[in-house]
Amino acid sequence: MCGIVGFTGNRNASSVLLDGLKKLEYRGYDSAGIAVSGEQGIQMDKTCGAINKLVEKTNDGATLEGKAGIGHTRWATHGAPTDENAHPHLNKDESFAIVHNGIIENYSQLREELREFGYEFQSETDTEVIVHLLDHYYTGDFRIAVMKTIARLEGSYALGVLCAEHPGEIYAVRENAPLILGVGVEENYFASDVTALVANTKNVIYLEDGQFAHITADDISVFNAVGSQVEANITRIAWDIEAAEKGGYDHFMLKEIIEQPNAIKATIEPRIQNDEIVLDDLAFGANELKKINKIVITACGSAYYAGCQGKYIIEELCKIPVEMDLASELRYRNPLIDENTLLIAVSQSGETADTIAAMKECKARGATVLSIVNVVGSTIAKLSDYVIYTWAGPEIAVATTKGYTTQVATIDLLAVYMAKQLETISDERYVELIHSIRQMPALVQRSIDLNTNIHEVAKQYAQKDSIFFIGRYSDYAVSLEGSLKLKEISYIHSEAYPAGELKHGTIALIEDERLVIALACHERLFDKMMSNIKEVKARGACVLGVALEDNREIFKEADHVIAVPNIDPLFVPIAEIIPLQLFSYYVALENGCDIDKPKNLAKSVTVE
Ligand code: F6R
Repeated sequence: MCGIVGFTGNRNASSVLLDGLKKLEYRGYDSAGIAVSGEQGIQMDKTCGAINKLVEKTNDGATLEGKAGIGHTRWATHGAPTDENAHPHLNKDESFAIVHNGIIENYSQLREELREFGYEFQSETDTEVIVHLLDHYYTGDFRIAVMKTIARLEGSYALGVLCAEHPGEIYAVRENAPLILGVGVEENYFASDVTALVANTKNVIYLEDGQFAHITADDISVFNAVGSQVEANITRIAWDIEAAEKGGYDHFMLKEIIEQPNAIKATIEPRIQNDEIVLDDLAFGANELKKINKIVITACGSAYYAGCQGKYIIEELCKIPVEMDLASELRYRNPLIDENTLLIAVSQSGETADTIAAMKECKARGATVLSIVNVVGSTIAKLSDYVIYTWAGPEIAVATTKGYTTQVATIDLLAVYMAKQLETISDERYVELIHSIRQMPALVQRSIDLNTNIHEVAKQYAQKDSIFFIGRYSDYAVSLEGSLKLKEISYIHSEAYPAGELKHGTIALIEDERLVIALACHERLFDKMMSNIKEVKARGACVLGVALEDNREIFKEADHVIAVPNIDPLFVPIAEIIPLQLFSYYVALENGCDIDKPKNLAKSVTVE
C-alpha cells in the first residue's frame, strides 16, 4: 500500500528519496513520485509504473535540485493508477507540494467548497484537496497553514508537506496512519515505515496520532493538534539494514522462511526467565484474568489463521471459550462483547484497517484489548491496552512466513502464561510446556532440514491447476495457512477443508490426478485421516501426506510424504507450516511467479 518518505539536509534530496522509495517497494504500489524544494522553488516528477521508471525519468534524481523533499509510492484507491493521480500533488502556482497516505473521508465536501473558491482539480484523488487547502490558508506562516488545513480533514492521513517559500523545511503530520521521524546528523527524515529509514539512521521518533512535526536539517520539533510543542522521545531501532536486505537469497520470502528459527528464538527467549514465562509487556495477572469469561481473537488473512491456532491451545489449557472473528466481519456485526471479554488482535504490520476498526468496535463495548504485533509503534499497538511484540524483525516479502510463525509462538507463550495464572494446568505440565517451547527454534530448524527434497516434490506438482488441503483439529488451521500461501504466490487455485467435511460436498471435486495435501500430525486423529486419504485416493487423487517423522503408516497411502519433527501436539503447527511454506515457494518458483510481490497484493492493507 502507499508509502511516504521525506528528507532535509545538506545534500541533494532526490537520491535519498528514491533510495527510500525503493525500500518501500515491497509494500505494493502502482505509481511513484518525488518533489524537492530548493533555490528554483518546488520541482516535482512522478509517473505510474515502477520506481525504476522514475529513476530513469529523473536521471537518478539529478534533474530535481533541492535539499529538502518528499516522496510517495501510490496504491490506487481514489482514481486509476495514472500519472495525474500519482503523488506528490501541487497547488496551482506550485508553491506547495504534498504526499499523503490514508483516506480523506470528507474530500467531496472539501472539493466542492474549494471549487467555489475557484480552485481547479488536476486529479481524481481525495488527496488533492489538501494542497489547495494549504494554498487557501497560507498567509506567510507555514505552520499556521498546516494547522488550519489538518483541522479541516476527516479520515486517516500521514502527510509530508513542502512550501516553496520555506526551502529546507518539511512538515510531517500523523492521524491514524503510520509515520516515523528519523533523527540523523545534520539531516533528518520521515517515512511511513522504518525500513525506509534504517539505512540512514537507527534513531527514530514515533509520532502519535494528532501530532505533527516541523523538520529541518538541524532540528525536529513535535507539536500536538493545538500547536503546543511536546517532548519527542528518541527510540533506537533494534535491527540493522541487513535484516531488510536479501543477503544472498534469491527472494525475501526464502530468506524469511530460513530465518524462522532465529525469529522464533527472538520471540520466546527473552520471555522465559528462570523457567517462568515473563510477559513484562502484560500487566495483568490472575485477578484480571479471572474476570474474563470469553476471549475473542480477531485479525485478517494469515494473522487470522495464527489466531485459529490460538483457539485450540487457549481453550485446551485455559478453559476459557475462544471465538474467532474475522476483523472485516466483526466490525459490521453487533458483537456480544462486554467488559468481561478479552479481545486479542493479531497483526504483523499493526496497520491493517479492518483489524483497527474491529478493535475500536470492541473497545467501545468495554473489552480489554491485547494485541500481538510485529511493528513497534504501529497504530494497533498504540490502540491496545496491552501489546506483546513478536520481535520477528522486518518482513519484506508480501506473503507472511516469519510474521505468522512468531504470532503462533507468541500465542503459545500467552496461552501457557494464562493457564499458569488461572491454575488450569498443573505445575508439572507447566514445566513440560516451557521445555517444549524452548525447543521450538531447534524443531523449526529440523523441519527445514528434514525436507531437503521439497523442491523436487514441488516440481512434480507445480503444473496442477487446483490443490486441496485437508486436516483435522489444529492441522486444519495449518491447512488454511498452507493453502493461502500457495494461492497468493503461485496463483494456483487451492482450498483447505476440515477432512471430515469432505464427504459433505467437496469430494465431488476430487478426480483423477487432483493433488490433495493431507495433514496428519495428530496421533489421536491419524486413523481418521487415513480413512480420508483412502477416500480421495479411491477417486484418483494423488496424496502428499504431512506426518510426524517417525510415522511409517502414512507411506502406505501417500504418494509423497513431508516429515514434521516430533513435538508436543499443542505445538505441532509451528513446525508443520514450514515445509508447506517451502512447498508454495518452490511451486511459485517453478511457475516463474513474482514471489516477493504477488500480483494485486499489498504488504499492509491500510484500506478497507
Ligand atoms: C498473507 C498475508 C496476509 C496478512 C493480512 C493481515 O501472506 O500476509 O493475509 O496476514 O493481510 O496483515 P497483518 O498481519 O499485517 O494485519
